[in-house]
Amino acid sequence: MIRLGVNIDHVATIRQARGGREPDPVWAAVLAELGGADGITVHLREDRRHIQERDVRLLRSTVRTQLNLEAAVEPTILDLAVLIRPDQVTLVPERREELTTEGGLDVVGHRQRVAEAVERLRGAGLEVSLFLDPEPAQIEAGLALGVHAIELHTGRYAEAAEPEAAARELDALIRAGRQIVAAGVALHAGHGLNYQNVGAIARIDAMRELNIGHSIVSRAVLVGMEQAVRLMKQAIREAVVNSGIGSTRPNG
Ligand code: PXP
Repeated sequence: MIRLGVNIDHVATIRQARGGREPDPVWAAVLAELGGADGITVHLREDRRHIQERDVRLLRSTVRTQLNLEAAVEPTILDLAVLIRPDQVTLVPERREELTTEGGLDVVGHRQRVAEAVERLRGAGLEVSLFLDPEPAQIEAGLALGVHAIELHTGRYAEAAEPEAAARELDALIRAGRQIVAAGVALHAGHGLNYQNVGAIARIDAMRELNIGHSIVSRAVLVGMEQAVRLMKQAIREAVVNSGIGSTRPNG
């Protein structure tokens, strides 16, 4: 069975747009789990643009499935990860120089730093995944670090404009998947996956986990819109009825 990790970062993006308290990603995580999520994924960015430290701390005690923390290779974030103890830490790039051209973590270019981060986390007894492009040299370098999983970056596949380009990217993902699985490491994938393009990725041999955020949060906004409007109409109606204002108006 392929596990679905639901990334709720963009619930926090909506909250941060007003700097208030809603929508609370902790509530969203509960609802995602009720819907069948096998895990909750959040990215605590250094700039705190969406998820806050408070969210991760609360999620640690409320998530009943698995908490996957995406983290930069930065001492302060790694310290927090060790303190909060998520079920899995996925190391991701945050700074331009840590990015490969496609968007995964550049392990080849920052071997020593990434190795030290993996060692720190594993030494604390945490499971570590690396977010890498489907690029043989990056995967080889990642596998050498003794991680428990590699998450393949599916962005290029997801964003391919032509079917031929998508097929080429899919092929690269399939080959990278074989390389990972042959080394006995768990195969994960994510980024840019949606209701249309997820099928081909789910069919990759030995796929263990998919992490999906933006398209699920986007769909949630749409499928929840009717009910949200209905509830607001009801709140307005009830306020008017309770105050007696409605009964004095000619049209009720
Ligand atoms: N996996 C990783 C490592 C990510 O950083 C993200 C968020 O960019 C995702 C998966 C989910 O991507 P999306 O929001 O496009 O589904």
